[in-house]
Amino acid sequence: MLRSIHVDGFKSLINCSVVLRPGVNILIGAQGAGKSNILMFMAFLSAMFTRPAVEAVYEFGGVGRIFSRTAMHGLGRKISVRLAGGGIYRARFGAKNSLYAEYDYEFTIAYSEDIETVFFENQNLKFFQTSNEEEVVHRESSGNFDVWDVHVEQSAHVDGFRIVNQCKTLKFNSKKVDQKFAGINPRYFLADSDDSEKVFADRFNKFGNCSFPIVEDLGNVFPSARYFITDFSRSKILNIDPKVVKNGEDCATSPGIEEDGEGVAATLHALGRAKLSPNSEKQSMPRIEWNENYSTGIRDPKIVLEMIQNSVKFACEEIESIQPVKDQYTNKIQVHADLKSNNGIVNLPISLLSDGTAKWLALITSVLTNRSILAIEYPENFIQTCMQSELLNIIRDCISNADEDSSNNFMFLTTHSETMLNSADPSEIIIVSMENGSTRTRRIKRIEDVRNVIQGDGFGLGHMYRCGKLEDF
Ligand SMILES: Nc1ncnc2c1ncn2[C@@H]1O[C@H](COP(=O)(O)OP(=O)(O)O)[C@@H](O)[C@H]1O
Ligand SMILES: [Mg+2]
Repeated sequence: MLRSIHVDGFKSLINCSVVLRPGVNILIGAQGAGKSNILMFMAFLSAMFTRPAVEAVYEFGGVGRIFSRTAMHGLGRKISVRLAGGGIYRARFGAKNSLYAEYDYEFTIAYSEDIETVFFENQNLKFFQTSNEEEVVHRESSGNFDVWDVHVEQSAHVDGFRIVNQCKTLKFNSKKVDQKFAGINPRYFLADSDDSEKVFADRFNKFGNCSFPIVEDLGNVFPSARYFITDFSRSKILNIDPKVVKNGEDCATSPGIEEDGEGVAATLHALGRAKLSPNSEKQSMPRIEWNENYSTGIRDPKIVLEMIQNSVKFACEEIESIQPVKDQYTNKIQVHADLKSNNGIVNLPISLLSDGTAKWLALITSVLTNRSILAIEYPENFIQTCMQSELLNIIRDCISNADEDSSNNFMFLTTHSETMLNSADPSEIIIVSMENGSTRTRRIKRIEDVRNVIQGDGFGLGHMYRCGKLEDF
């Protein structure tokens, strides 16, 4: 997983570092401190891996909105980023074994006024990869983490009205990466010879594309370089609007839940109809017609459906069961609920239930079915206080059961709820603050001491935060 981010030049993230941990990472801090900017940066990062940098910038509001604006320099022209992480990555692209990888990736994207575009001005990527466990142990016990199998540096500059792109450094451990080249991409095909580094550099200079992260180009030669892209692939920032959930969907909508909660009915409908193939336990994605953002991990869809039913009943006692109902005239699916009443069961569409119930259903369904959720903003809105801590437990559970792939074992939350924070652990917190126009983040350093205070006085973390007591830790 991504372990640390350093950003300079994205909105209020000016020389800002964020340290991530597995599990939930709860961003707290004043309004305007930069919590949403951190999340938006992560989503922006994910966009940059799938489309040219200039398009990603445009999609997130354009140069004038995402480049930092400071009193001293006005609108910035560059965003510099450093990302470090690693872990175990599930086998993909036909590979048999899972892979252990570590990376350290620095890049700067720049806006050129002359040619009015955004491009990767320089990139510096180092990574280490192995499927051999002994090698991982060795690297860790030696304490020398500056051992890389691939090191590549690219730089680009504007010359007249053209961007000149250059591969400056390419070093690789040919013992480990060489065998994998053959036949992968003729454009980059490297002969098994001593000058293959030079060959790659030459090819890169011809074909390399400074609109994309270098991992893309490199992936043509070293397939393993693609593995850790999954660390930046999650982009969904849920901010569920109960009104949208109450609306329902056309039954041709593909399953999967959008950031505002659209798609709950379609997702429940698909879950009910899903069939797993016999070796489902090994499959990470049950094969039905769902879109890429939708997967129940290794769980059987029927079990997921049952978990959703149970948690809805738990949150709202009068509900007996929920079902997606398709109207045969309008082709619309809407969630309905059987509610207990004095003289039997009454069936109501979700549009008549409470906003809290609609939001709860959407939250639970998304965390149980979606692996592309990056963050949940203010999950507490509309949710009753005791259910807020329950929600935190459910989210924690989902993350720890996600799957072995280390890209999937963390999630961000933002919250202003003292109640929710009361059930958080100090190790989960990231305190975000605004200092002289720049966002700063910090983790609680003396975690054990905070736990002791909480145990001693019986109040939770939220109480400590509200009273300003966390500052001392
Ligand atoms: N392009 C920019 N340059 C500098 N600062 C920015 C830029 N865009 C937004 N900001 C800062 O970010 C703040 C909003 O941060 P946000 O992440 O929305 O806060 P919150 O912590 O409440 O989610 C604004 O108040 C402003 O100070
Ligand atoms: Mg915000």
